[in-house]
Amino acid sequence: MIPRADQIEKAAALLNAGELVAFPTETVYGLGSDAGNPAAVTRIFAAKGRPGSHPLIVHVSNLAAARRWAATFPDSAARLAEAFWPGPLTLVVPKSDHVLFEVTGGQPTVALRAPAHPVARALLAAFGRGIAAPSANRYGRISPTRADDVREELGDRVAMVLDGGDCEVGLESTIVACLDGRVMLLRPGAVSRMQIADVVGVVSDADAAAPRAPGSERSHYAPQTPLAIVDGADLNARIERALQRGERLAVLTHAVAPIAPERVTWRPLPAEPSGYGHALYATLRDLDRAGAARILVEAVPATEAWEAIADRLRRAAGA
Ligand code: TXA
Ligand code: MG
Repeated sequence: MIPRADQIEKAAALLNAGELVAFPTETVYGLGSDAGNPAAVTRIFAAKGRPGSHPLIVHVSNLAAARRWAATFPDSAARLAEAFWPGPLTLVVPKSDHVLFEVTGGQPTVALRAPAHPVARALLAAFGRGIAAPSANRYGRISPTRADDVREELGDRVAMVLDGGDCEVGLESTIVACLDGRVMLLRPGAVSRMQIADVVGVVSDADAAAPRAPGSERSHYAPQTPLAIVDGADLNARIERALQRGERLAVLTHAVAPIAPERVTWRPLPAEPSGYGHALYATLRDLDRAGAARILVEAVPATEAWEAIADRLRRAAGA
């Protein structure tokens, strides 16, 4: 499933020419452009229908490359990079003067990530500079975890889609801001709060003083079918009522089973967070196509291991 070397070369040449290239990372697919070319970066916003004020992550090969985008690289950020890069972690640090306004949305900070996926790494090596990339979906929709999902989202708005198979993690990266001597969790992800705390000590939640992480607002990462989160214990009563009303339902579970599995579109997921996270977005896309009036999702455990999944489900529910 790994693209050939000539496809990587072609993708790097397209980036050099200011075109958009979608590429796999271990979290989700990214919609990439040359982070140093303002016209190319602007194309990302047009392709996604995303407001220009929403900043982009600059993808780099390693910590040395990341330092070139930062005015200062706090010690906490360097230690996190050493512990988790390449990997599903994005670091927000003070930006260097040369970082484009289009990339940061005018914020004084820049988000940086060294992805682990071999195709992303090959593309970064071939291109040789930073690649600005949000998730490769239209604004407000579910991030794509398969090359076909990217094509469905963006069609011919992207010059090339590098196919690297299914994304292993399946949820967007953990975002941590290292600013003013503090470490703040802006978006939970596969690198957990506890893992971060193990490296830097105290991790705080985003507060009023934290940088905005647009896209962390409610009703994001959402399917088009209304989605409701329901306690496992209440699920069957909800299903029964809906069926009595003649409502068509899609049901996503990890522990319980629906009373009438043949009368709903039912997808069970693994009862552990890494398998669940890997499959979640692809499964929501499938359920979104089921023609249901509503997607009912069994609530996941309120434990740290499930934090990123619970966060995305809440946003998908717009709750
Ligand atoms: O896993 C991921 O992070 C994927 C892959 C492609 O790397 N990318 C991704 O990008 O999810 P995007 O644009 O969909 O989400 C990035 C989030 C947005 O909520 C954005 O507001 C936030 O990062 N962000 C970017 N720059 C920031 C900054 N300087 N300060 C605070 N938040 C920032
Ligand atoms: Mg996104």
